[in-house]
Amino acid sequence: MKPVFEWVRVTQISSVAERTFVIAFKEPKSAAALEPGQFCMISPYPGSSNVYLPRPFSYFRVSANDTIEILFRTFGRATRWMASLTPGDRIGVFGPLGNAFNQHPGAERVILAGGGIGIPPIILLAESLSRLANPPRIDLIYGEASGSRVVDLAKVVPPRVCCQITTEDGKIGVKGLVTEELSRILDTCKTPPAVYTCGPRAMMAAVAGMLTPGKVALFETACEENMACGRGICQGCVIPVKGEEDATRYVCCCTEGPVFNGFEVKWD
Ligand SMILES: Cc1cc2nc3c(=O)[nH]c(=O)nc-3n(C[C@H](O)[C@H](O)[C@H](O)COP(=O)(O)OP(=O)(O)OC[C@H]3O[C@@H](n4cnc5c(N)ncnc54)[C@H](O)[C@@H]3O)c2cc1C
Ligand code: FES
Repeated sequence: MKPVFEWVRVTQISSVAERTFVIAFKEPKSAAALEPGQFCMISPYPGSSNVYLPRPFSYFRVSANDTIEILFRTFGRATRWMASLTPGDRIGVFGPLGNAFNQHPGAERVILAGGGIGIPPIILLAESLSRLANPPRIDLIYGEASGSRVVDLAKVVPPRVCCQITTEDGKIGVKGLVTEELSRILDTCKTPPAVYTCGPRAMMAAVAGMLTPGKVALFETACEENMACGRGICQGCVIPVKGEEDATRYVCCCTEGPVFNGFEVKWD
């Protein structure tokens, strides 16, 4: 679907963990077409805020009544403005943008690894994969630095998905890093699994370092670079990837991504 820009009204906003919120709005055109991994640019209604540039957010959930949910964490001016919104407020939404995860992993087993606020597209992907006619076994690892930031995913993770939480402070789930849990699950795989990840760049680089082409059926990463336009104009979201003969090629994360073959991204 071609992306559309719409002014929509916030239908609900709730605090779900430390500095972390879910905002909901109705946007039937995108709701019908969007795919896991894609994102939208959110902007304030003119005159309602001092935020001037739109900001990118992955789609988190879509419900039957065309309601789209975004899970976000506050970092700076735009996300603090979003956290201050109330039902009925207007926001601009431009999407769906970017490419999507491959939803046909071609593996008996799928491992989804979401770190921090990289979890939203992973949840949407888990839902989509669990609806496949012949769904693979799905392990989902969700890691946060501290227990206070853990979002309760019990209501949003499909029942057939095996979910493991890791926290660095050990307050919730297993104490440690996403990569430690990933290593444990990889050791139990009898056939090459498909691995998908989204999270801090350092986490995704560490995941890439643990995997070997040929030993996994698929390895995809959703890269969340800063974006100002979301449509290939400003060049603010460029990342290096491997080109022919290992030469470096620079690509716009917003138009050629945000989902990339994790073996092709130049992590260092
Ligand atoms: C494709 C894509 C999908 C995204 N999906 C989501 C999502 O679903 N939920 C969500 O909360 N965010 C998501 N982000 C990140 C989100 O766009 C930024 O958090 C947001 O633009 C920050 O705007 P701000 O004005 O609040 O903060 P800024 O003023 O832009 O940043 C304030 C400070 O926080 C740092 N910062 C900003 N974002 C992050 C971050 N994610 N992690 C660590 N430090 C950060 C900045 O480097 C800066 O130092 C996504 C980004 C991309 C590119
Ligand atoms: S955000 Fe402007 S080119 Fe990607």
